[in-house]
Amino acid sequence: MNESNEPSQPQREGFTTTLGVLAATLGSAVGLGNIWKFPSLTGQNGGAAFVFVYMIGVALIAMPVMISEFIIGRKAGANAVGAFKRLEPARTKPWFLTGVIGVVAAFLIMFFYTDVAGWVYSYAFRALSGGFAHVGVNQTAGVFDSYIGSAAGPLIWQWIVLIVISSVIIAGVTRGIERMTKALLPILFVLLLICDVRALTLPGAFEGVRYLFQPDFTKITAGVVLAAMGLAFFKLSVGMGTMTTYGSYIGKKESLPATAIRVALADTLVSLLAGLAIFPAVFAFGFKPDAGPSLLFITIPAVFKTMPFGQVFLTMFFVLAAIAATGAMISLLEVPVAYLTEEKKWSRLWATIFSAGLMGVVGSLATLSTSSLSKTLVFGKTFFDLFDFLSSNIALPVGGVFICLFVGWKLGKKIIVEEASNDGSLHNLALLKVFTFTVRYIAPIAIVLVLLNGLGILKA
Ligand code: TRP
Repeated sequence: MNESNEPSQPQREGFTTTLGVLAATLGSAVGLGNIWKFPSLTGQNGGAAFVFVYMIGVALIAMPVMISEFIIGRKAGANAVGAFKRLEPARTKPWFLTGVIGVVAAFLIMFFYTDVAGWVYSYAFRALSGGFAHVGVNQTAGVFDSYIGSAAGPLIWQWIVLIVISSVIIAGVTRGIERMTKALLPILFVLLLICDVRALTLPGAFEGVRYLFQPDFTKITAGVVLAAMGLAFFKLSVGMGTMTTYGSYIGKKESLPATAIRVALADTLVSLLAGLAIFPAVFAFGFKPDAGPSLLFITIPAVFKTMPFGQVFLTMFFVLAAIAATGAMISLLEVPVAYLTEEKKWSRLWATIFSAGLMGVVGSLATLSTSSLSKTLVFGKTFFDLFDFLSSNIALPVGGVFICLFVGWKLGKKIIVEEASNDGSLHNLALLKVFTFTVRYIAPIAIVLVLLNGLGILKA
C-alpha cells in the first residue's frame, strides 16, 4: 500500500554501473574547459603559476563542492531544485534558491558554450572535409575572423550542436547519457594521447613543457586567483547543480568521495594533456601562448599546419574537442530538463525542446557578439563575455558557497557520514572528517575571500 498521498512515482532512471557513473561524471567535467579555457587562461596568466593556483582550487574547493553536490543529489534522489526541497521539507529557509540559481546558471553557461561548441564542430567538419588544406599559416586568423564575423554559419552550427545534444537527452539517462559518454570518452583519450606524442616529439618542444610546469610566482595577482578559482568550478562542473542532478542518478553502492576524487584527477590529467598537446607545439614553431580565446582557433590551426601530417592531427584535435564539448553540454542541458520533468511534470521531450530552444534563442546573442552585436555592450561587456563572467566568476562560486554551507551546517555530520560512507561500509571516516571540516570552514571562507578580492571589493 502506498501510505503517503503522493502518487507512486515511476521508477527513476539512473547510471547502471561504476564505469557508467565515472563516464557520465567525467564526461560532464571534461569539455571546452580543458581544451579551450584551460590553455587560453594559462597562456594569458603566465603559465605554470596559474596552473599551480588552479590545482589548489580544484583540491581545496571544487572537489569538496563536488562531493557535497553528490551527497545532496543522491540523498534526495531529485533534480537541482527538488533536492533542496526534499532535504529541507519545512522550507523554513530558502535553500532551494541555490538550485534555482543553478538552473539559471545552466542557461547562462549554455548561451555561450553552444556558440563555442559550434565553432569547434564547424572546424572539425572543415578539417575532416579537407577545408584547411589550402589555408596558409598566416591565413588562419583571417579564416577565423571572417567565420565568427558572419552571422549565418555560427548560428547554424549552434543549432546543430543543440539538436545533437537534445537527441542524447531525449534518449534518456541510461540509454542516452550513460551509453554515449561511455562510448566517446575512450576515443577522446586516445586522440589526445596521439596529439601529445606528436607535439612532444617536435624539436624545441621542451620550452612548452617548461612553460606549463615551471612556475613564476610573481605572476600571481588577485585577478589570477579569481580566474583560477572560477576555472576550477567551471572545470569540475560544480556550483550549480549539474553534479547534484548526476548525483541523483548514482547508485547507493557507489562511493561518492571516490567518484569525486577520480573525476578531479582524471579531469586535471586531461587539462594537462591538452596543455602538452598545445604549448610544446606553440613554442616549437615560435608562436605566442597568450592569444586567449583565439588560441584554439587561430594559433592551433597555424601550428598544426606547420608540422608534418598537420592536417591529420588538426582533424583529430578538433574531433576530440567536439567530443569533449558534447559530453559537457549534455550534462548542462540535463539540469533544466530534470528540473522541468520532476518539479513541473513536463514530458522529457518537451522539457528538452523548450530548454534547448531557449538556449538557442538567447544564445544567439552570444553568437552575434562577434558579428552584428559586437558593439552592443552591457556593463562594458559583450553578451558573450557577460554570460561567461556572470556564470563562471559569480554564479558558480556563489552557488558553491551555499552548497558547502547546506551540506556542512544544515545536513550536518551525521548525514554526511551516512551518505558518503554508505552507512559506514566504506570505512572512510578519517577522510570524511577532513571533508566535513573543509566544507564547513575552508571552502566557504576561501570562496568568499577570493570572490570579494577578485571583484575588487576587498583589497588583499
Ligand atoms: N566542465 C565542463 C567543461 O569544462 C563545462 C560544464 C559542464 C560545466 N557542466 C557544467 C561548467 C556545470 C559549470 C557547471 O567544459
